Amino acid sequence: MTASNPSGRRSAADPDFLTLHEIVQKARQKLNHDSWDYIVGGTETETTVRRNRAALDSLAFRPRVLRDVSHIEPGTTFLGRKLRLPLLLAPVGSLELFAKEAGAASARAALDYGVAHMLSSVCEPTLEDVAQTVPEALRIFQLYVHGDANWVDNMAARTMDAGYSAFCLTVDSAYYSRRERDMAKRNIRRSVVPGREHQATLTWKDVERLRSILKIPLILKGIATAEDASLAVEHGVDMVYVSNHGGRQLDHDRGSLDVLPEVVQAINGRAKVIVDGGINRGTDIVKAIASGADMVGIGRMQCMGLAAGGSAGLVRLLEILEQEVRSCMGLVGVNSMTELDSSYLHQAPILGPSHMLSAFPLLSLEEKSFY
Ligand code: FNR
Repeated sequence: MTASNPSGRRSAADPDFLTLHEIVQKARQKLNHDSWDYIVGGTETETTVRRNRAALDSLAFRPRVLRDVSHIEPGTTFLGRKLRLPLLLAPVGSLELFAKEAGAASARAALDYGVAHMLSSVCEPTLEDVAQTVPEALRIFQLYVHGDANWVDNMAARTMDAGYSAFCLTVDSAYYSRRERDMAKRNIRRSVVPGREHQATLTWKDVERLRSILKIPLILKGIATAEDASLAVEHGVDMVYVSNHGGRQLDHDRGSLDVLPEVVQAINGRAKVIVDGGINRGTDIVKAIASGADMVGIGRMQCMGLAAGGSAGLVRLLEILEQEVRSCMGLVGVNSMTELDSSYLHQAPILGPSHMLSAFPLLSLEEKSFY
């Protein structure tokens, strides 16, 4: 596939990867056990992680046939930019574990391929450095609140000064969850960040204040009910990001794709809707868009791409995802994402255990160290 993308550059991605499964396998080979657990782990029983996959696995397609599907266009327009897929690289902390340039490596991949990038506030390098290194990327900054109102407002000002297109506040992290994979190894560095206690004090008043000072769109990440989606819109939020943090915060939460329809209904077109959680395949992206999302985020798969081959590995992962999306769209009978709606979906029994890697059945033929 030609790499026609906003940066005009050709992808330097490793063409040897033919399937996503090979990329996940390479990531596993390259990472030590701590870094691997950091990617794949969730909170406590990891039920939310599994529910994210189960919500996707319980959706089957209702394909339509005998339509001319020779001109598939899986792209979208987001924040005024044309993207090759309705896809966002979700904010991931500590990307330095997977690629030398960390956040700048994934921003570069987003630019080279043609999707949006959201930089985590707990990822290296600084938001200004990423802006300087990859200025042309479609950049969004995500904040964890680690200070008082003045601290937050200063972060908002820095985000705008550095030319980011939107500001995202993560609101599902009042407390740092119990990540037992890390605790079991006494690897608890990430849970003791100074100022983290400010997260627990956040209220809708903070959202109001932020909305009044921001001159760029405001996104709330971690919305999990219709009620909070409605409140977000009433407080002037521009985009509602349905997420359970990839099953890393509240255990026994619902799967994101189970939450999405009630949020879409409550918002009723008044704000854009982003969703993430268990999105590992092209078919998952199509299901999320058919369920009413405008954009879809990937967290762990982003880490896999970076770990397997740095920025180029992530571009290759995006190319394969696009191939899967195109094939899925053609086979369900649509040429564009705007044609998709819930009439293409059907609730169906799940055929096996849903877990972090169940989208890659070929892995089960290999070593056990994936789990
Ligand atoms: C995350 N996530 C996250 N979210 C956020 O708002 N700020 C952050 O710094 C991080 N850090 C982070 C690290 C790692 C290793 C993972 C896997 C996830 C959550 C992330 O943005 C996203 O919501 C989930 O990753 C989506 O689920 P999948 O795609 O990983 O299944």
